[in-house]
Amino acid sequence: MLSYEGKIVLAPMVRVGTLPMRLLALEYGADLVWTPEIIDKKLLTSTRTVNTRLNTVDYISNRTLVLRLHPCEKPKLVLQLGSADPELALQAARMVAPDVAGVDLNCGCPKHFSVHAGMGAALLSEPDRLCNILKRLVTGLPGVPVTAKIRLLPDQEKTLELVKRIGATGIRALTVHCRTPADRPRHPAKYDMLAEIVKVCPVPVIANGDFFDRSQFAGILETGVRSIMLARAAQWNVSIFRTEGLLDPMEVSKAYLKKAIEVENPFSNTKYTVLQMWLDRPYSDKNLTRKLQSCKSMAELCGTFNMEYIPTEPLDLDNGEESDEVLCN
Ligand code: FNR
Repeated sequence: MLSYEGKIVLAPMVRVGTLPMRLLALEYGADLVWTPEIIDKKLLTSTRTVNTRLNTVDYISNRTLVLRLHPCEKPKLVLQLGSADPELALQAARMVAPDVAGVDLNCGCPKHFSVHAGMGAALLSEPDRLCNILKRLVTGLPGVPVTAKIRLLPDQEKTLELVKRIGATGIRALTVHCRTPADRPRHPAKYDMLAEIVKVCPVPVIANGDFFDRSQFAGILETGVRSIMLARAAQWNVSIFRTEGLLDPMEVSKAYLKKAIEVENPFSNTKYTVLQMWLDRPYSDKNLTRKLQSCKSMAELCGTFNMEYIPTEPLDLDNGEESDEVLCN
């Protein structure tokens, strides 16, 4: 059974955390990787197909690739679900359970798309519903560890009460993104409650928020949290998972692109993710970002990095991103 102790993990990231990013994170040393949040209803409209050419498992809905998984990541892969309903969550989780090592519930996304549908951070103010979803997943998925990812509540006592309730549902670990739903990414993460959260939480706590340098890890582990989750640090330079130190962003971008080509990651998703590695970064090169922004094909993306592109024959899918996709940061 999956352990959540002593791990440095890749956070769920809509768009960014697709297959090439997860594979590269694992190659660089990530202990576990989360899928981007996938909405239960979306999964339930999709069909599971084994892609024998790529050796991947594809979930496809209306000619859109909802999720592409590789068997090699399975022992370390956690599916993150967006849900507001115990039965839908369970049905969706059961569909994907054979292809993953764990299932996580997103209880922190503050975006309108999630909260207006009762998902993400909306669950924090509906603890009964939140806990019912978790309990249904726990009882309905024997042998599959279930986890949850929350944000802090503005009130400390209420946060601790909620953690106790969530911890009693049978989940195996709890990720705490150390911001409240009203906080934006520019607001600093608040670690002052972590030690108290650890005290009342009966399962390992995974800390998340503003870890940009591995030198921060030792201090944060002193709070008693068992593992650390990285989002933007990995989005910018996924070699953050290397214990030997960061690699040059150019090298990482090329490695990512190579993986994206190998697994036939959709062009628009690949372009988006590579751009995130360069936009507004201290090492950013305006010429490069401008070139990247104007790319219209995988071949042009490769050309930008002086890489050769050998065309493949990808599945005949729509290239677009999910129209209802949101960034939960
Ligand atoms: C996110 N985040 C996020 N959270 C989540 O639970 N499910 C998701 O699908 C997403 N999607 C997502 C996309 C992108 C591009 C970013 C940057 C972030 C939030 C993320 O997992 C994490 O909680 C926050 O970004 C805080 O961690 P960092 O960035 O400070 O390490």
